[in-house]
Amino acid sequence: MELWPAESIWEQISPLLPGFTVEVLPEIDSTNTELMRRARAGRTEPTLLVAERQTAGRGRLGRPWQSAVGDSLTFSLALPFAPCDWSGLSLAVGVAVAESLHPDVGLKWPNDLWWQDRKLAGILIEAATSGGRSQVVVGIGINIRPRPAEGLSTPPAALTELWPEASAGATLLRLMPALVRTLQDFEQHGFAPLQARFEVRDVLRGREVHTSDGHSGMALGVGPTGALRLQQAGGERLIDSSEVSVRPLNTNTN
Ligand code: BTN
Repeated sequence: MELWPAESIWEQISPLLPGFTVEVLPEIDSTNTELMRRARAGRTEPTLLVAERQTAGRGRLGRPWQSAVGDSLTFSLALPFAPCDWSGLSLAVGVAVAESLHPDVGLKWPNDLWWQDRKLAGILIEAATSGGRSQVVVGIGINIRPRPAEGLSTPPAALTELWPEASAGATLLRLMPALVRTLQDFEQHGFAPLQARFEVRDVLRGREVHTSDGHSGMALGVGPTGALRLQQAGGERLIDSSEVSVRPLNTNTN
């Protein structure tokens, strides 16, 4: 079993989030599912839930999220959250995580972390309202050590390829303060102040892309609300992140 730096994380985060707790479980269906269950039951205390194994991990757009036990970091953070505008939240989380991991980690709109055109990590954000108060659940899965390609012609990226001593616990300790601070900044100011930081890591910019809802064009970057700007024959189109996935030409990962 991994040695988790739960106490160090708690010491760093509880001054930012009063009432914060850290829980590490050997197994659960999904850390997002569990924190959403708790939120709907009115449990709104800020919580970091880490699972060594998920039996029903979930990705975006209803996809399953598979992770190798011992070789990945899977966790969710729940906290009360009431921004004026939720647009661009997954991009903001991506910026926080990428910046805390390594200068070479890229961001693939709307919420994947990539390295060398391969997926390194994914983000699943959900919201719950209970008793008139809203809560956000931010779920993150990061490949720490390499694992097989599982049907893809390109294997996923792993953090040890960039940071050889990386472990799940050290990664979590490194990213948690940036994640919490970014969520708090986002709640106050939205995505616009983070736009430039997203753009320096944007792996789609300048590439021809296809969207799952049938659009294609040249990715031009993102707008101030985090929408993808697509250059098409008829002009520029803004693509909203909610129900869409995007694939650049000449790659097999998504
Ligand atoms: C995606 O790329 O589609 C998002 C993947 C998000 C996976 C993480 S792992 C921890 C948390 N619990 C889940 O069930 N999903 C998220």
